[in-house]
Amino acid sequence: MKQCRRVLAALAGVSVLAASLSGCGANGGDNRRIIRVGHNQATDHPTNIALMAFEEYIESKLGDKYNVEVYPSELLGSQTDMVQLTQTGAIDFCVASNSILETFSENYTLFNMPYLFASAKAYHASMDDPEVVDPIFESTTQAGFQAVTWIDAGTRNFYTVATPIESPADLKGLKIRVQQSPTNVQMMDLLGGSATPMGFGEVYTALQSKVIDGAENNEMALTSNGHGDVCKYYSYDMHQMIPDILIGNCSFLNDLPQDEREIFEEGFKLVNTVEREEWVKAVEAAKDKAANEQGVTFLYPDTKPFQDICLPMHETILKQYPDLAPVYEKIQAYNGQYPSEAE
Ligand code: GCU
Repeated sequence: MKQCRRVLAALAGVSVLAASLSGCGANGGDNRRIIRVGHNQATDHPTNIALMAFEEYIESKLGDKYNVEVYPSELLGSQTDMVQLTQTGAIDFCVASNSILETFSENYTLFNMPYLFASAKAYHASMDDPEVVDPIFESTTQAGFQAVTWIDAGTRNFYTVATPIESPADLKGLKIRVQQSPTNVQMMDLLGGSATPMGFGEVYTALQSKVIDGAENNEMALTSNGHGDVCKYYSYDMHQMIPDILIGNCSFLNDLPQDEREIFEEGFKLVNTVEREEWVKAVEAAKDKAANEQGVTFLYPDTKPFQDICLPMHETILKQYPDLAPVYEKIQAYNGQYPSEAE
């Protein structure tokens, strides 16, 4: 694995980093074009495993021309920083949560709606349907980047240091970290907690130092990010299924010759399939570790009171962004086909 921690750990600011990356053409006599891919997960996370498969695949096909380097663990900065680096072409690809992308294109608001998908099957079918994702994925080309595939990030649920969340009333007065997106802040406000937006990398320290009382995420955050060492209650209210998105710099993608572009497209598909296979195993292992080694209690509250509070957001968002309505309707058709009982 050639994940270049050393280059980056020493670099403090993103502007310094951008300047340094773009100036980094010479590669010790190696004339291959370096392709930099950044993300914020640990090396054992399904996202990293999938990107390593991408690296291997691209280099197996085009290794004389390209040298793919995967930078995990926020080595290239926060997701917002990495999206900006991808926009300018300082790096070529990064993985960003759909939540973060909402601040770059309002179309991404759609997949951040709470209780949008009735089941994991409806979520997967929607995200696999080009008619659903293409209008969203292509909406940032003016801004210099586009989505090339999606990555499963499971279901987001509340977890807290000390308060079991059995109903929305239990969130009252609690400071809960949310991702930096207007939709997430609005959702938290409606549910009665105090929304505290911050980057993913800051959450562990904020929990430990009691700056926040809890957060919301999939099960991997408990183990891979150690949040389960501090938070002892994880409550399956199932409020969101927010995908992660692999985005690429448009100039890089558009400049690829057709035959190479086809190879990259295969590579993007591979990221999706490998990650989804790994995800199922990783979540099972995370639940086991959280319950048996970290002492986390898993709770299964009635999700209806949470849903009743959040569902009016759908109408508000669709009124604000009427162009999203046709895609929203397609998702509703999948919800009809794969209702929650089907799980
Ligand atoms: C998940 C998701 C990340 C995101 C993180 C967060 O881990 O996969 O992309 O950054 O949640 O809550 O910020």
